[in-house]
Amino acid sequence: MILVTGGAGYIGSILVEMLLAKEYPVVVIDNLQQGHRAAVLPGARFIQADVANIRVLDALFSCFKVDAVMHLAADSIVSKSMSNPQLAFSNNISNGMILLNTMIKHDVKKLIFSSSAAVYGQPCKVPIMEDHPLKPVNPYGETKLIFEKILHWYGKAYGLKHISLRYFNAAGASEKLGEDHLPETHLIPNALKAVLNPELPLKIFGNDYPTQDGSCIRDYIHVIDIARAHTLALEKIDDLTGRAYNLGNGNGYSVLEVVKAVEEICGIEVPVVISPCREGDPSTLTASAGKARVELDWEPQCPDLKSIIGSAWRWIQSHSEGYLDSFDTKHDHISQGINGLSF
Ligand code: UFG
Repeated sequence: MILVTGGAGYIGSILVEMLLAKEYPVVVIDNLQQGHRAAVLPGARFIQADVANIRVLDALFSCFKVDAVMHLAADSIVSKSMSNPQLAFSNNISNGMILLNTMIKHDVKKLIFSSSAAVYGQPCKVPIMEDHPLKPVNPYGETKLIFEKILHWYGKAYGLKHISLRYFNAAGASEKLGEDHLPETHLIPNALKAVLNPELPLKIFGNDYPTQDGSCIRDYIHVIDIARAHTLALEKIDDLTGRAYNLGNGNGYSVLEVVKAVEEICGIEVPVVISPCREGDPSTLTASAGKARVELDWEPQCPDLKSIIGSAWRWIQSHSEGYLDSFDTKHDHISQGINGLSF
């Protein structure tokens, strides 16, 4: 059984979809603060709880034979981490350590960690390789880096096998599952929403960065390609434990280039307003993902920006209200409880 923390979130739910397609038994733990119950496909067991809830974790690890954990539950909004670092450190470090300690107690010794390009900070060289200096410029990136270091020491002391996957900018959707955050902070869904609701124009955060058009450059990677990297990492964790891999396409697109691509996909102009820079945003982040290609055998299947945006556009058009969170909990695994606990 694979435990996916944060499995009701955007990336987590699509990872669960892939694990189920590969016939892994899956249990999801998610507090639904950002995730959606309706995003967890019926084949997976679901427990609504926080990863800091030791009682629930103890029961979960006693009830299910968990072979590996994929840890995605986190506070992942960079700007929120700037204004509220307390929350980022509590959720991403303290809560993550409760998960780790409970894993060790129950002899669960494999973990794939959802890390981030934010561990690098403002790059001194692009595309960024994994041995680039690690100097986060926001608390979010700092939490991901600290957790990577904790994994290193837990590996040495307790034999924990771990791989960290440093995502660049996850984007796109599967046929069934997509991105539904409240509030939405990410560029591509916000640009698509501005197309659907022209009265709410897209804010472009900053136009005087040291880039060719003054807007920030990012490396957008299809969420399904990110999910696939997790399954490959799991298959190879015995040989590759302790390593970190960048997950990106290696192509940088500026905010204005993304807006242009959205306009080409939707056939409609994106209404925009130029706004002040967002605190904590590095100007350019692009990945060198050669290490993942060679060592994980990972080859992005959907590297083309317009295909990525196209999949997000299809999903958003068919889910104009998002997930609606209308799942009937009467038929939910959580209502049955495990070991006498009702979750
Ligand atoms: N942006 C806008 N307007 C918006 C939203 C974003 O101009 O409405 C700009 C941002 O300023 C940034 C770029 O678009 O320059 C991308 O912003 P996102 O919010 O989509 O993504 P981030 O790069 O801030 O962060 C994402 C993840 C992080 C991760 C990072 C790694 O949310 O968790 O990618 O590259 F660390």
